[in-house]
Amino acid sequence: MMEQRKVFLREDEMPRQWYNILADINMNPPLGPDGNPVTPDQLTPVFPMNLIEQEVSTERWIDIPEPVLDILKIWRPAPLVRARNLEKALGTPAKIYFKNESLSPPGSHKPNTAVPQAYYNKEFGIKRITTETGAGQWGSALSFACALFGLECKIYMVRVSFDQKPYRKSMMATWGGNCIASPSPDTKAGRDALERNPNTPGSLGIAISEAIEEAVSDESGQTRYSLGSVLNHVMLHQTIIGLEAKKQMEKIGEYPDVIIGCAGGGSNFAGLAFPFVHDKINGKQIEIIPVEPAACPTLTKAPFVYDHGDTAKYTPLLPMYSLGHAFVPPPIHSGGLRYHGMAPTVSQLVNEGLLTPRSVRQQEVFEAGILAARTEGIIPAPETNHALATVVEEANKAKEEGKEKVILFNWSGHGLLDLTAYDSYFAGNIKNIVLSDEAMTEAGKIYANHPKPQSLKSK
Ligand SMILES: Cc1ncc(COP(=O)(O)O)c(C=O)c1O
Repeated sequence: MMEQRKVFLREDEMPRQWYNILADINMNPPLGPDGNPVTPDQLTPVFPMNLIEQEVSTERWIDIPEPVLDILKIWRPAPLVRARNLEKALGTPAKIYFKNESLSPPGSHKPNTAVPQAYYNKEFGIKRITTETGAGQWGSALSFACALFGLECKIYMVRVSFDQKPYRKSMMATWGGNCIASPSPDTKAGRDALERNPNTPGSLGIAISEAIEEAVSDESGQTRYSLGSVLNHVMLHQTIIGLEAKKQMEKIGEYPDVIIGCAGGGSNFAGLAFPFVHDKINGKQIEIIPVEPAACPTLTKAPFVYDHGDTAKYTPLLPMYSLGHAFVPPPIHSGGLRYHGMAPTVSQLVNEGLLTPRSVRQQEVFEAGILAARTEGIIPAPETNHALATVVEEANKAKEEGKEKVILFNWSGHGLLDLTAYDSYFAGNIKNIVLSDEAMTEAGKIYANHPKPQSLKSK
């Protein structure tokens, strides 16, 4: 019999509800400036109420609206692919599967949440959305979603990525988005950052401040802010990835032993992993690994604290692993992984020991990405290469142990607009930057006086 390389779902087999992990875990609440838990109405200048309701919901299953499903069907269900060529190249007995999230129009998993966020804003009567973007995948995804719902979109793109990836800006413009480099002179947060360092490469923390500031200062009340990762409702929307993967694996009688995803703010990782974390809480044996750069090692080196999600402290204090809200990560090519914090839900699971994070260095990251491109064909986003480096490590371990492990990972995006990163690798300019303990201690002084989150256990 001919061996199947891909497992498909029909459109009518697509999940019709998202999985909400808040039904199964306990969380420290976000805290406002007075040190008390934030109430939903305090968030109304920033987000529309329908999304705030999702942010705080503890319902296990939440319906995906029909108009959202209709747009997701442009590229979903995404195939589950067996990476046979990669397995062969590694000579491993492990079976390697991935969800191919690079097939969306912008090229990554990001539209899985951009589409519902644009939809809920539109439903609430909002006309304009502001946001930040690292590598440009999120800004492209939100521009695409806003185009489909007839909304305006303004994007603050982190300076270093703006310069490294000029065609991301063209892509956003094609979908009608207005993208500018951050820090910018348009906001107080941007001007302050430029005054501190006129040559700063920028950071997601600064770009988030700029986008929030612009949204809340629109006196017409018709602008809101949108975040591409970190928040509970973003993780929720991404669970369509893991829910599809589960159905696809069931179809071929498989179940993963190891699940791997790269983690910047945590959304592609959570999207694949959370439906399986549900099983792990209920007794399944699975190793679940978020992977981050050693240059920005939030989960593997930083402490679990209360910290702001942005540099200008416009966001509440969030319970998360953090390198400090003013930390400017080294200018590595994976713009989407240059974030000082981590999703509170992912942080909570790491703190409970349900996830086992790892960090990888830039050279092994590109070696793995190039091996994947030369075997599976798709040129991965540099962020995805972090997951691939750990897939290679796990496949080699399976070979040493002679075990036929099932590895499932998230191919979070393609790298067709990240080719300067590959050129840089071929020119020998990719360095193995590792954040020093001294730099981490220095950056961490900023949250020394914040309240401390409690150690909690899942329900
Ligand atoms: C392709 C790709 N993968 C991963 C990430 C990291 O973000 P997250 O951790 O929210 O998935 C990004 C963010 O921009 C991205 O573009």
